[in-house]
Amino acid sequence: MLLILNGPNLNRLGKREPGVYGTLTLEELERQCELWGSELSTTVTCRQSNFEGQLLEWIHDAEEHGFTGIVINPGALTHYSYALRDAISGQNVPVVEVHISNVDAREEFRHKSVTAAVCKGKISGLGFAGYRFAMEFLVEEVGQ
Ligand code: DQA
Repeated sequence: MLLILNGPNLNRLGKREPGVYGTLTLEELERQCELWGSELSTTVTCRQSNFEGQLLEWIHDAEEHGFTGIVINPGALTHYSYALRDAISGQNVPVVEVHISNVDAREEFRHKSVTAAVCKGKISGLGFAGYRFAMEFLVEEVGQ
């Protein structure tokens, strides 16, 4: 049972910098994740928030709510949120960090992730497919 979390500004997918993030919407991404979930025989719950605290609370509660893996695109929080990092490291559910764009090919400030080190790994630059690969990893490799 996987939790897919999208952070700040990802509700603007489709409208936001389409040259960087593409023209598909968050709703389309979430439907795609649900479809991939059924292919992988796992249940998927998708959530998005522009609020750091909300993301923290979803992570805090993930294990209690029965989630066995978390895929997170923290948006810009990736680059500076020690609170998000602590929320991830302070719980037991494995987390994979995903970025739609290739953050290493962009501005300098995007090269640093304060959260990736406490995740199982990080996927960047593969578009929406990154979510699929993260889900596959969590289902197959971590045995969830
Ligand atoms: C992003 C990359 C971040 O640097 C940016 O702030 C985002 C989206 C991505 O998916 O490529 O909001 O996480």
